[in-house]
Amino acid sequence: MMTDFTHAESPYGGNTEKAIASLRLVIEDEGPENIAAFLVEPVQGAGGVLIPPADYFKEVRKLCDEYEILSIADEIITGFGRTGKMFGMENWGATPDLMTFAKGVTSGYIPLGGVVVSDHIHNVLKEKSKGTLFHGFTYSGHPTAAAVALKNIEIIEHENLIENSRKMGEVLLKSFKMVKENLDIVGDVRTIGLLGAVELVQNPVTNKRFAQELNVASRVIEALHKRGVICRPVTFNGTDIICFAPPIVIDNEQINTLVEKLYDSVLSVQKQLGVTS
Ligand SMILES: Cc1ncc(COP(=O)(O)O)c(C=O)c1O
Repeated sequence: MMTDFTHAESPYGGNTEKAIASLRLVIEDEGPENIAAFLVEPVQGAGGVLIPPADYFKEVRKLCDEYEILSIADEIITGFGRTGKMFGMENWGATPDLMTFAKGVTSGYIPLGGVVVSDHIHNVLKEKSKGTLFHGFTYSGHPTAAAVALKNIEIIEHENLIENSRKMGEVLLKSFKMVKENLDIVGDVRTIGLLGAVELVQNPVTNKRFAQELNVASRVIEALHKRGVICRPVTFNGTDIICFAPPIVIDNEQINTLVEKLYDSVLSVQKQLGVTS
């Protein structure tokens, strides 16, 4: 595990001002000259699909420029159409200095990960290395993986899959909201493109969570699994969040099937818990 990572407050929940003030405090405390970079996911995936407020990343960019700190976007989940744009950061018009990517670049058919660097970093690397960046892994730049990635990107573009992700994400959100209206244990629901989450709570008005030992999210995941839907729970800090990242080729009919199964699964667990809608 790498050490020396310092964390700033998350903007999740809508408070950009507070999150930026916290980030400023971290920078001041550490000293900007001691900070290599600010590393962030455009949408925090494994944290439960946490979508930041609309102005957060523009403010982060300003802060990074003010203190001359590099910004790195971890686009491993969000890259290549997942959020309805080619890259997650495009949702907020913010440009990072570096970007990591993996998963969607090949749609997982062949393993490939990488880093994109902006021109000003590239120019420094060129200067310091006389044109070659000596940063070798055995399979760096593997031609098969690179060929799969290029073909995959060609298909994403040719079949308008980013637009499909955006449109189907809106359909998915509408359907999640219908599930929420009809069931008593569904709290916040959210999507950005085809990255979505459904929170399960004891009381959707107060957002009171279930006791952890009830394993509500895991029970819903199991019920979904039995119905042929594979997705993951996030139970970090006592949450019960069901996360969704369906293939970006999904269509209306498949979304209906997915959401019907979600409804049935949550209803079955709701009944086990003795809650009647
Ligand atoms: C946001 C994010 N960053 C980084 C990683 C690790 O990526 P890799 O296994 O390609 O190094 C993951 C893996 O799931 C991830 O979700």
